[in-house]
Amino acid sequence: MALPGGGGPGTRARRGHWSGVNAATLFAAGVAGTVVALSLPVSSASTREGTRPPQSAAKAFIPYIDARPVIDAVRQALPAELAGRTPAALERGWAEWVARRDTTLRARVTRGDEDSLVNLWHFGTSFTTLPPVTERTVARLGGASAAADLLEQRLTHLVDGLAAPAGNERLRFARQIVERRGIDPLSPAGRAQARGYLQELRRRALAEYEEHRRTLESISHLDPVTALAAYATMFRDRGLSSDTSFLPAFAIEQALDQMKSHGLVAPGRVRRVAIVGPGLDFADKDEGYDFYPEQTIQPFAVMDSLIRLGLARPEELVVVTFDLSERINRHIDAARDRAAAGGGYVVHLPLDGGEPWTPELLAFWQRLGERIGMAVPPAAPPSSAGDVRTRAVRIAPARVASVVPIDLNVVLERLDPLAPGDRFDLVVATSVLVYYDVFEQELALVNIGRMLRTGGVLLTNTPVPPTSTMRLSDRYATVVYSERQRDQVFWYERQ
Ligand SMILES: C[S@@+](CC[C@H](N)C(=O)[O-])C[C@H]1O[C@@H](n2cnc3c(N)ncnc32)[C@H](O)[C@@H]1O
Repeated sequence: MALPGGGGPGTRARRGHWSGVNAATLFAAGVAGTVVALSLPVSSASTREGTRPPQSAAKAFIPYIDARPVIDAVRQALPAELAGRTPAALERGWAEWVARRDTTLRARVTRGDEDSLVNLWHFGTSFTTLPPVTERTVARLGGASAAADLLEQRLTHLVDGLAAPAGNERLRFARQIVERRGIDPLSPAGRAQARGYLQELRRRALAEYEEHRRTLESISHLDPVTALAAYATMFRDRGLSSDTSFLPAFAIEQALDQMKSHGLVAPGRVRRVAIVGPGLDFADKDEGYDFYPEQTIQPFAVMDSLIRLGLARPEELVVVTFDLSERINRHIDAARDRAAAGGGYVVHLPLDGGEPWTPELLAFWQRLGERIGMAVPPAAPPSSAGDVRTRAVRIAPARVASVVPIDLNVVLERLDPLAPGDRFDLVVATSVLVYYDVFEQELALVNIGRMLRTGGVLLTNTPVPPTSTMRLSDRYATVVYSERQRDQVFWYERQ
């Protein structure tokens, strides 16, 4: 029995799928030449001004005039509703198409949340003392049929939990998802319906996992350049997952470090950062740890890295998050409210003790958060969580308050107009663009470019074709997390 465990709906490259692939080769026409040194100009803003969120910003859909070059460039890959239309018809229907598409894309969040529910069922230890069922534990649990029995028992415990979630925030959210389907988990009939619903979600997750496996298999026969392009849009039909862990933060720090050592980013000059899709660690597809509160990690980890590398000064740094998930935006807002009342934000950093991590990754894990917070005793994992090491860091309230969440669908929306002083020095988008096709990725790149200042940089682990204003560097960072997991970070410079 295949299980949607490790290697499931994740976006990190496993076993080096991307190794040796140069994105610059992929988009050779657009990326000839070498990296231009990025001179991040000293802003005239005072320290106080430097820490305010974008004041000039209004949210706007991408206008036709900005989308047109993308439409012309990817004519062969336009969505069916746009394909074959004359330029005049495209222009006339653009605003309506964008608004409709925005609704469609936002609806994908629910599917991503449903996938997280399946992860919780398989891996969670907060609602049951039964061991998690992962690909790696199946043999230890007695094989596929024993694992299937265990999953049935876990399902019973999960459905029990839905009826009485008490203080378990993951169960409370799971219950909301189930109730949104018109299911009442308190009634005997509702319990049976909840079981059926979760089983249906699992079947869908397994089918997607199998399709994902087949895609990876077919990609492995392609030449590296075509493989990278196929990999870059792999989740275009998936639900939008909120999955996250601290690993991408290591990748971003490595990329920033390399840029710094090549003189591409100057010390102390990064003031305004946008994190597209910060994510919410609920129960991820690898191990699904849930023995600590739900959390977002990337906004704080990137802040910590920028300060450690001397690229930003804490009192000047504003981190804006862009997400179309209402739940994630609310989570960050609530953290800001608590920070305003003097409360910090505790980030847990679980580390699978069975994974052969690199010494560099382990060193990063050990220091993450030390520049913006202090180590605190972590929540103790239950013995059923298996071999896991944990650190926890309490982020200082002032740093939490400097994170500003904004509801934004980066594929179709941007802050516009944005005064020159409010434009971003750095935008980070990891494991976000891979959920879109090339047309939508290109629209996102145009929107991100619109919000970056000239010379500002986008860092992403999804290589998308460059646009006339977003130049892809021929350098990129290959980041090795462990013997099994690696990633690549590409950077685009706003022209
Ligand atoms: C898989 S998580 C990645 C989280 C984190 N960046 C990481 O690398 O661990 C994807 C995140 O992107 C967000 N997202 C997906 N599509 C988006 C869009 N069009 N605009 C803004 N956020 C988006 C999701 O809601 C989620 O927060």
